[in-house]
Amino acid sequence: MHIAILGATGLVGREMVKTLEERDFPLDSLSLLASERSAGQFVDYKDEPKIVEMTTSESFDGVDLVLSSAGGSVSTEWLPVAVEAGAVCVDNTSAFRMDPKVPLVIPEVNANALKSHKGIIANPNCSTIQMVMALEPLHKEAGLKRVVVSTYQSVSGKGKSAVEELERETVNLLNTTSYERTVFPHQIAFNCLPDIDDPTVDGYTKEEQKMMDETRKIMGLPDLAITATCVRVPVFFGHAEAVFAEFDSPVSVERAKDVLDAFPGVRVVDQLEDHVYPIQTMAADRDDVYVGRIRPDRSVTNGLALWVVSDNIRKGAALNSVQIAEQLLQDGLL
Ligand SMILES: NC(=O)c1ccc[n+]([C@@H]2O[C@H](COP(=O)([O-])OP(=O)(O)OC[C@H]3O[C@@H](n4cnc5c(N)ncnc54)[C@H](OP(=O)(O)O)[C@@H]3O)[C@@H](O)[C@H]2O)c1
Repeated sequence: MHIAILGATGLVGREMVKTLEERDFPLDSLSLLASERSAGQFVDYKDEPKIVEMTTSESFDGVDLVLSSAGGSVSTEWLPVAVEAGAVCVDNTSAFRMDPKVPLVIPEVNANALKSHKGIIANPNCSTIQMVMALEPLHKEAGLKRVVVSTYQSVSGKGKSAVEELERETVNLLNTTSYERTVFPHQIAFNCLPDIDDPTVDGYTKEEQKMMDETRKIMGLPDLAITATCVRVPVFFGHAEAVFAEFDSPVSVERAKDVLDAFPGVRVVDQLEDHVYPIQTMAADRDDVYVGRIRPDRSVTNGLALWVVSDNIRKGAALNSVQIAEQLLQDGLL
């Protein structure tokens, strides 16, 4: 098994290397690919420094599996080359997610979709993954009818430059020194920005559109009523979401807790009287999707309100991709 990581110096790429190592993914060789900017740098794998190479048309020769996270335009350019060279690609960008021929997969939810892959498998958006992980067990129980979600997304969702901008901006504001912003349209330190990805039609952003479209595709519910507001908050790692879900039939809070806790990769953390609920610092660097503040949605007949928190770089990106690769291997699809 020869694996290539495209975008190996990024937040997601580095986490992919770490995840392969932690889960002892069976591999014979690992190529670390990035742009010319970081060619020659080193990233450690199993305590050994491995050199990062610039991506070229020869980079995919002999590669069995590509884990890709270098941005949509890079995936559009290189993944067809990799597939042509015989590799199977798991892509973290939005480039292929809504292509009807490309499976969009969360292994705990729709692993079966992998069977129809034609070389490229898309990893969903980080905010979509954690929300669908919480919605799927409840949907199986009571039939999902409508979703209203507001997100509280960390800056790491926008890559390493965004993490650096929050760090520098915070330090500069506290020291009352000046700082030139390059990543966010406004001050992100001590602020919330309801503006993630580009604007689309009707006043929505692309991030909000992705959450709506991807949820329908993954859950196989093309007519699901769903609306989203996506907000960037001054948190480094981990996304939180307030989710209001309406169902066809009643589901009690106690039953919801049981089915959520029984679902692989989901953990219920919910004891408001002791101030116990999921928070980003709890979820960061962990694999699970944490759900709490589970209560009836008093505005509808069969509804629940949930608070969902997860590490956007792990289950939202690197871990989900490696789980897809493990599933492909297990099903003989690589
Ligand atoms: N962060 C998240 O929570 C998250 C979650 C899900 C999906 N994603 C998606 O994953 C992708 C990467 O995210 P990230 O957070 O890891 O970003 P990042 O930290 O900015 O890293 C970007 C990576 O892409 C590489 N790259 C950029 N241009 C390239 C080119 N022309 N050829 C080859 N490599 C190139 C960079 O290499 P250099 O070092 O050479 O610049 C770097 O390794 C994005 O599409 C993002 O939407 C991110």
